[in-house]
Amino acid sequence: MMSALFKPMKKMIGKGALVAMVSGAVLMASQSTGVFAAGGGFPLETPRIDTSNKKSLQRGAKAYVNYCMGCHTADYHRYSRLASDLGLDEDDVVNNLIFTTDKAGEISKVGSLMASTMTTDYGRQAFGVVPPNLALTARSRGEDWIYTYLKSFYRDDSRGGVGVNNLVYPGAAMPHVLWEQQGWQEPVYEGEGDEKHFVEFKQVTEGTMTPEQYDGLITDITAFLSYLADPIKQTRHRIGMFVMFFLLVLTGIAYLLKKEYWKDVV
Ligand code: HEC
Repeated sequence: MMSALFKPMKKMIGKGALVAMVSGAVLMASQSTGVFAAGGGFPLETPRIDTSNKKSLQRGAKAYVNYCMGCHTADYHRYSRLASDLGLDEDDVVNNLIFTTDKAGEISKVGSLMASTMTTDYGRQAFGVVPPNLALTARSRGEDWIYTYLKSFYRDDSRGGVGVNNLVYPGAAMPHVLWEQQGWQEPVYEGEGDEKHFVEFKQVTEGTMTPEQYDGLITDITAFLSYLADPIKQTRHRIGMFVMFFLLVLTGIAYLLKKEYWKDVV
């Protein structure tokens, strides 16, 4: 009688839990791959990002301070934090990664925020928009977006001053800062009118890097931006693993204890 009553209920719970689990998994998957980030219709590539790879993050940090920080600030983050998270000592950071100055014109201290020296007024004057803070862009746009964006600049003479356009972010006010490394490319289209669609990029002039090296460079930069947007991800994963292990051991102990308590009862 009792079991007949419970059966349908059990089934319902089973179904509900399943639905919750599936929708949770879908939500997590879509968030981690950045499906919510708009790509302007241009197909995004997925780089192989590994934020536990300290060497990749170090290369990304170096490229970031050299090529991006002139315009973009990341002032939710301190240089000293880079040292501890990326496995560098503070002297390395001071000697290789700090090129910015503080308001008095002195080179930034290791404890200061990673702020760009460019003022917002200057940014607005030079580009029409202030180059955005990139500290959280890996969350707002997604890794795939950033990676494909850095790969999709091309020369566009119709754009006057900038002379450059981007297929992921058409009309972007940012110049192609890595043109020396990538060289110049132009998009090849097929079809006419509404049918017109992008096929591939054709290399027009060589860069100092091969396409594979360039992909490596922008993978490292994207990894670094991903780390900036979520600096404690690795710590969280470590704690998560520890908690799982702890619960497993606890389950084992609880089971042995249960056996011990019940052994004389039945
Ligand atoms: C010469 C200045 C300048 C430099 C250097 C520069 N950028 Fe930009 N960047 C801009 C400007 C201006 C925008 C705003 C574009 C717009 O919204 O039209 C921008 C926008 C972006 C965006 C889009 C952000 C968003 O959410 O809209 C990303 C990502 C980005 N830059 C990454 C980089 C990276 C990575 C580097 C270094 C490799 C870099 N930028 C170097 C000027 C610069």
